[in-house]
Amino acid sequence: MEVETSGEAREAAARRSRQENVARRIAILTAGGDAPGMNAAIRSVVRTASGAGLDVLGVKRGFEGLAYGDFEPLSSRAVANIIQRGGTILGTSRCPIFRTEAGRARAAENLRYRGVEALITIGGEGTLAGSAAFTNETHFPVMVVPASIDNDVPGTDYSVGFDTAVNGALDAIDRIRDTAFAFERLFFIEVMGRDSGFIALEVAIAGGAEAVVVPDVKWNLDALCRRLEESQLRGKRSSLIVVSERPRTGGAFAIANAVSARLGMEARVVVLGYIQRGGSPTSRDRIAASRLGAAAVRGIIEGRPPSLIGEERGEVVYLPIGETAGKQRHLDERSLELVSSLSV
Ligand code: F6P
Repeated sequence: MEVETSGEAREAAARRSRQENVARRIAILTAGGDAPGMNAAIRSVVRTASGAGLDVLGVKRGFEGLAYGDFEPLSSRAVANIIQRGGTILGTSRCPIFRTEAGRARAAENLRYRGVEALITIGGEGTLAGSAAFTNETHFPVMVVPASIDNDVPGTDYSVGFDTAVNGALDAIDRIRDTAFAFERLFFIEVMGRDSGFIALEVAIAGGAEAVVVPDVKWNLDALCRRLEESQLRGKRSSLIVVSERPRTGGAFAIANAVSARLGMEARVVVLGYIQRGGSPTSRDRIAASRLGAAAVRGIIEGRPPSLIGEERGEVVYLPIGETAGKQRHLDERSLELVSSLSV
């Protein structure tokens, strides 16, 4: 039996079909060092996009999957139960092929072939630099969500993952402090951060360290030894020194050896390593990831130019990629003084 459809129903069907034909599609990837909160950012992007009628393709293993065309559709349900998980469900990599112009051109072809109209990248300084080169050469629209435990992405006060890394390191340091105090020992604790000392500085202030060695400021053996001798004279029997990882500081083992040789003091070294990169994201990271991820999708819908989605004084800001990539974020050296002034 033939069912007669009303004019309204026909109109709705035609609208649906038009939308299906011009289905707007975006892609998302996570790149470089994973950071707790990346999954919360993926969830936010997928659900904001799907609320706005956009399709989302997930790219596996960062820029590598982009260059080799490894994609998977991501629905709102596919990102259920991930807001609390560290790492990244999409996987990540440090990809040599994307460092070449040919690799980036291939990546753009892969996206266009699948009807993708814009890309959201989630990662740190390297991801920002890669995204900038990619969009400059291929004119493919890109939005970057900063996520790195190092918190060194230029143009934003905050990168997703930093708070979780600091709190993880702090938990370890509090434990080390217990045994340092019981044994009256000197401990050197090495934290991550690559070329910047943001993790070391926050952990040193919050962990009540005696001193901190960061890559941003050249450390001095005489000054460090003098500080330790003075604190002994003031009656301190145990001390914690927080050291940013190699290469620019030399690392905790090298510094501990130099200090022990000079002062004849026994020292213990703990390298916290990848423990800082894993674990369930803190509320700070889940919220930052949710806000920045949603803003990245809004930026695409509003047709903004390729941007880093940053946080400035607590507000979400869009910074044109060309104005941020390649710059450096610096430590506030007054905070280094706080470590010394509070460890008297
Ligand atoms: O950028 C995040 C980070 O964990 C840095 O702190 C560290 O220097 C680096 O990644 C380690 O890189 P990989 O995972 O390649 O060893």
